[in-house]
Amino acid sequence: MKIRTGTDIIEISRVKESIESTDGKFCERVYTEKEIEYCESKKNQKYQHYAARFAAKEAVFKAISSSLDDKYEISWKDIEIVNDENGRPYINIINSKFKKFEDIDISISHCKDYAIANVVILC
Ligand SMILES: CC(C)(COP(=O)(O)OP(=O)(O)OC[C@H]1O[C@@H](n2cnc3c(N)ncnc32)[C@H](O)[C@@H]1OP(=O)(O)O)[C@@H](O)C(=O)NCCC(=O)NCCS
Repeated sequence: MKIRTGTDIIEISRVKESIESTDGKFCERVYTEKEIEYCESKKNQKYQHYAARFAAKEAVFKAISSSLDDKYEISWKDIEIVNDENGRPYINIINSKFKKFEDIDISISHCKDYAIANVVILC
């Protein structure tokens, strides 16, 4: 069994700008319907949650990159970040090509300016 980790941090203002300047196109390209629904439910805090999910996807990419032949093999909506009834995030793998991992776990945090995510994969 091998362990792979990935981490990413992002400025929330960058994600906010990308969302606001592209009239929904950035959201459409990066986030699944469930992710958009979750973030939009957070009203004026929503950009923290969008940024956290962006960081989470980058962290997943970092964790699995060594097992990819081509870095463009995985796209933003191949995985989604959802939350259980206690708010704990988990990764839903949508593209079955990436279901080969033994286990995958994620932790997210965000404050006023930054969002961060850590991912651990057992393969
Ligand atoms: C869950 C909790 C730790 C979140 O901490 P926070 O400082 O308010 O918020 P952060 O910005 O660091 O983290 C927010 C993220 O935590 C994650 N989170 C929420 N509930 C969680 C849980 N039960 N388990 C793991 N992660 C959780 C979510 O991913 C959330 O981001 P998201 O809504 O965008 O998905 C906090 O709300 C809580 O319930 N604390 C009480 C328990 C505690 O801290 N005990 C201390 C002694 S052990």
